[in-house]
Amino acid sequence: IPLAGVMGDPVCFSKSPRLHGHWLSSYDIPGHYVPIHVTSENLEDVLRAMPRMGFVGANVTAPHKEAVLRLAHNVTDRATMIGAANTLIFGEDGRIHADNTDGYGFIENLRQGAPDWDPATDALVLGAGGAARAVLAALIDAGTTRIFLSNRTRIRAETLRETFGAKVQIVDWEKAAGIVDRVGLLVNTTSLGMTGKPELRFSLAGVRPETIVTDIVYSPLQTPLLQDAQARGCRTVDGLGMLLHQAVPGFERWFGVRPQVTPELRDLILK
Ligand code: ATR
Repeated sequence: IPLAGVMGDPVCFSKSPRLHGHWLSSYDIPGHYVPIHVTSENLEDVLRAMPRMGFVGANVTAPHKEAVLRLAHNVTDRATMIGAANTLIFGEDGRIHADNTDGYGFIENLRQGAPDWDPATDALVLGAGGAARAVLAALIDAGTTRIFLSNRTRIRAETLRETFGAKVQIVDWEKAAGIVDRVGLLVNTTSLGMTGKPELRFSLAGVRPETIVTDIVYSPLQTPLLQDAQARGCRTVDGLGMLLHQAVPGFERWFGVRPQVTPELRDLILK
């Protein structure tokens, strides 16, 4: 019976066991998906042992997403570019293949939530952490040619520009709201607006109603940014779908069935 799981520290907040468990039972697949609490100190030992224990792969969450790149035998280009992996596939010989599906999840969620999104449209991305790296990689891959990037700490945005190139243009954090009228897509990748975090102070006063506004935060589902955007007539895409869609490629590789992201699954994960 194939095993998969999620490794993190802590891991108790991960929604992956419920998500993959739902798919295993709905497709009647004999397999198990378990949460695995692993400290940084034990990461390498645990990882090396897993293939021998019957694991076919794993998801990786904080704080191990960067460290697993150094332990994997091969790493996809997109994971290298993002500097982090969230999905591991174990070969029968114990080799560890590392990939990052966060950008895939972001784009799939955007395409389903806003089917008429034009990848060629200019985008404004707020934030410069790991999530921003995945979003930039995915947008460039989808064909976006100009991405304005804004982060409180400007130097972090500049580091991303070095990785992703001249399609990325840095905008001062204080000036970002002033260019929102120039983009067809606005993405918040910061943690601001999440329950327990400060609100994202970003004025949408200049936004065009045809602009799509999306947030990677999904708790609450309708962040203050998305509520404001809706009030101004913009289409919004919440962040829950990114979490659900990023899980699809891993499940398919491990268990051989490409699972569906359904409204029923959304409700289950929100509970
Ligand atoms: P992740 O890897 O999950 O994206 P992260 O690396 O901690 O997480 O990044 C969090 C993002 O939220 C960063 O862009 C961070 O800005 P800084 O680079 O300036 O730290 C942003 N962020 C967090 N708190 C913020 C705040 N109070 N105001 C503005 N930006 C904030």
